[in-house]
Amino acid sequence: MTTRPLEAKTALVTGGSRGVGAGIVARLAADGARVAFTYANAKERAEGVADGVTAAGGTALAIHADSRCEQDVESAVARTVEQFGGLDILVNNAAVGSFGPITELAMADIDAMLTINVRSAVVAIRESLAHLGDGGRIVNIGSINADRTPFPGQSVYALTKGALASLTRGLARELAPRGITINNIQPGPSDTDANPADGPLAGHMLEVMASDRFGTTAEIGALVSYLAGPEAAFINGASLDIDGGFAA
Ligand SMILES: NC(=O)c1ccc[n+]([C@@H]2O[C@H](COP(=O)([O-])OP(=O)(O)OC[C@H]3O[C@@H](n4cnc5c(N)ncnc54)[C@H](OP(=O)(O)O)[C@@H]3O)[C@@H](O)[C@H]2O)c1
Repeated sequence: MTTRPLEAKTALVTGGSRGVGAGIVARLAADGARVAFTYANAKERAEGVADGVTAAGGTALAIHADSRCEQDVESAVARTVEQFGGLDILVNNAAVGSFGPITELAMADIDAMLTINVRSAVVAIRESLAHLGDGGRIVNIGSINADRTPFPGQSVYALTKGALASLTRGLARELAPRGITINNIQPGPSDTDANPADGPLAGHMLEVMASDRFGTTAEIGALVSYLAGPEAAFINGASLDIDGGFAA
């Protein structure tokens, strides 16, 4: 086994400018992949992620593509293939969360969650399937909230992550004959802008976890890289928890 298991592979990660996505980009690149990633707003941070990869000897490309826009997602896949000559790994990471009682959530926020967290993943998968070949990998970033919602106010966010788990199972059946696997990673509380380890809700989350800390983006990046690599060929249709025992 090479020490760079993703050498000569090309990856596209949605939402790579910050947090979990940036951790995934860094790890895939460190493991040898050429990595394109999208962002919606944080241009400077996206360029910083790409520069960091380059400084570490890797290859990365930041692409502005709003996951709310079908054409942006399709263009991001096309641009990746154009730049790197193919596509082997798709990681659907971009997501938003709005929390509160369902009667108080704005429909615009509900629509944004459904569109960015679910619809854009479907679009990216459909588009990528024109390019993924034998050994191709799709990794969705779901959430442990698909299986456990200990606090009120998480219903629609949890719905979107449950949808990814179901999509993953269904597509495993369709894609296995092509030698492509699809899996779903379900993080628990992980230290990012969206869920800071020192945020006001952190104490409540730690109370329902077995571990006494939040996860790191590097830990999630490592699991994505494993699933994207050759040793994970027999893992298919799975939802894998990386949650510090949130669901234990
Ligand atoms: N952090 C946690 O505790 C946790 C737990 C379970 C699951 N997750 C999942 O992990 C993933 C990443 O979460 P995170 O905590 O890293 O979130 P984050 O810090 O808010 O980062 C979100 C990323 O998604 C991008 N994004 C958001 N809306 C987008 C859009 N319309 N088009 C394209 N990109 C968009 C952002 O780009 P910009 O920078 O340009 O806005 C950013 O790169 C999500 O799927 C989330 O549900 C996180």
